[in-house]
Amino acid sequence: MAWEYSEKTRRIFTAAVHGEPGTHMGEIDNPDGFGEHGSIVCGDALRFTFRVLQHPTDPVQDVITDARYLTFGCTSAIAASEALCSLIVQGRYTPIGALKITNQDIVKFLDGLPSQKIHCSVMGAEALEAAVFNWAQKRGVDLEKIGVHLKDKGEDEGRIVCKCFTLTEPYIRRKIKELNLRTIADITGAIKAGGACGSCHHAPGGLQDLLDETWGKNGSQPTPEPVSAAASATTEVSPFQLYRKIEKTIAENIRPALQADGGDIEIVDVKDTKVYCRLSGACAGCPGANATLKLMVERTLKEAVDEKLKVIAL
Ligand code: FES
Repeated sequence: MAWEYSEKTRRIFTAAVHGEPGTHMGEIDNPDGFGEHGSIVCGDALRFTFRVLQHPTDPVQDVITDARYLTFGCTSAIAASEALCSLIVQGRYTPIGALKITNQDIVKFLDGLPSQKIHCSVMGAEALEAAVFNWAQKRGVDLEKIGVHLKDKGEDEGRIVCKCFTLTEPYIRRKIKELNLRTIADITGAIKAGGACGSCHHAPGGLQDLLDETWGKNGSQPTPEPVSAAASATTEVSPFQLYRKIEKTIAENIRPALQADGGDIEIVDVKDTKVYCRLSGACAGCPGANATLKLMVERTLKEAVDEKLKVIAL
């Protein structure tokens, strides 16, 4: 699938991957602020670091002078990370001032993002929060005391609603409110929940229930076909049965996540326990392609089909 990116998004992405002067891909050694968000298994992950010019007496007045990111993800993930760093550095923000930057500011800076890619801008804002939290701890700033409440990780712990992306009920509830998400498609676009197998959409306590509890019932959505449980580990299966299990797992648990980022995967051959695969679309030639194959595809196949499987990239 080809995404409709703005001219500015394409320009920012190209400049970033070529490391042009003024871009921010990379990592600061011994940073003053460090934060991460996302997960490689989920297809997007961002590590964010910043350096401050320390104020001699009042840490709250520290000014961010440099910001860098390492992003595992697609065009929009890299462009959104680049936008976040540019906004912060150009604005000469204090760490606390930088918290005013929202995912909407990032989208605006990029002249828009496809709705299915909004999660890339959300990821940047979350990583920034984590980095400011880290800076405050290092500089001895009591954020609560000065009226800044940041979510610590513990607040998002709880029942997992979307197993494909390991997203919990408190986190999804918080994001539904913060980002004014009104439909399952909105949730998937913003935080990816529901974007793979779909079994969390209408399950009891699933995404639709969380939406209804937050906003009240307003219209129904078609119930997706229930997704069957992952194939059990192979004990004595024929090569044909093994192939079918691998094919089914890729179709149900892997391909939707890759397609959500404009990529795809093809099984070229299966020999014994070796699965020969080729990534295509946006995943082909992506610097993170190997990580996707090993960390996401191979791990999923091991869990769902057989622990002995190995994925070989073609
Ligand atoms: S459990 Fe949410 S998409 Fe699979």
